[in-house]
Amino acid sequence: MADLRTRYLGLELANPVVPSASTLSSRIDTLKRLQDAGAAAVVMQSLFEEQIEHEEIEIDRMLEAGTNSFPEAITYVPELEDYNIGPDAYVRHLEQTKEELEIPVIGSLNGASKGGWVRHAKLIRDAGADALELNIYYVAADPNLTSAEVEQRYIDLVAAVRSSVEIPLAVKVGPFFSSMANMARRLVEAGADGLVLFNRFLQPDIDLETLGVDPTLHLSTSEELRLPLRWIAILRGRVDASLAATTGVHTWEDAMKLILAGADATMMASALFKHGPEHVRTVVDGIRTWLDEHEYASVEQAKGSVSQAACPDPVAFERSNYMRAVVNYTSPYDWRAASSEPRA
Ligand SMILES: Cc1cc2nc3c(=O)[nH]c(=O)nc-3n(C[C@H](O)[C@H](O)[C@H](O)COP(=O)(O)O)c2cc1C
Repeated sequence: MADLRTRYLGLELANPVVPSASTLSSRIDTLKRLQDAGAAAVVMQSLFEEQIEHEEIEIDRMLEAGTNSFPEAITYVPELEDYNIGPDAYVRHLEQTKEELEIPVIGSLNGASKGGWVRHAKLIRDAGADALELNIYYVAADPNLTSAEVEQRYIDLVAAVRSSVEIPLAVKVGPFFSSMANMARRLVEAGADGLVLFNRFLQPDIDLETLGVDPTLHLSTSEELRLPLRWIAILRGRVDASLAATTGVHTWEDAMKLILAGADATMMASALFKHGPEHVRTVVDGIRTWLDEHEYASVEQAKGSVSQAACPDPVAFERSNYMRAVVNYTSPYDWRAASSEPRA
């Protein structure tokens, strides 16, 4: 049987399937179900910067810039009053999780400003976290802010946290950089041991009846996998860091594709909300079966074998296929006829 072990952030994981940060980690019994189903590690729900005292994290700077500059950062935690677990309760929950679980536990901080991160990173380390994931959730909506300034903000944040804690540090970012590959390299140079690609930004909608902004969170589908798939494939071997994929990982097929692209860990949230914690087992079993059937001895052997560096058609991960794909596209809908039923 194929060996599923993988190294992520210097930790040896039993397999590459890891529940990503979400409210699934807020209850110990759910965490135990995830572990029993084969989760190799767990990323805890984030401690959000909105939960950390305002003066401590320079949040006034955010507010001065006008809430319109940060609509998503604010609506991401719309039920903040209900989510009344502050930093102390967060740390206690983390300590208890470490006591109760055998798998590695990764603490998580989510925000965009500097200030309090260093202290809270230390608290998470002291609570026994095996690693820390820093989710930099920042919507750069201010037209006066240049890309260079935004990027520097990410780098400064990573460097500040890196210099304060020695536990492995993963950095979770969104895909919206002009030069993702360069940014990935700079994040690693600033001290990230791993990159988690990609943060899935909440996209607000407009309610046509109330004319209000609807921040409802929609779960992802496998359709969204291709973005992390491309970038994991491109970055494999190009940055000296672990790579984890998040967004759109729903099935064992999704996870297997990411491993072939070069992911060290494949993270899931939406699929676990849809199918429950036991879904982890289906994904782990599916990976093992595929490896056995395709005569791979291990995850390590398969890892990165279809990365851009290893692929016989490397430009396929860049622009080259675009024209071919659009020019050759044929709609499955026969709209020239009266009916718009999909073609048989
Ligand atoms: C209900 C819910 C809560 C989440 N909470 C967090 C969080 O606390 N911190 C974080 O970094 N990401 C959080 N996320 C984002 C997930 O970790 C994940 O990156 C994202 O949902 C994309 O993965 P998916 O397609 O498997 O859902 C949350 C997602 C969901 C659906």
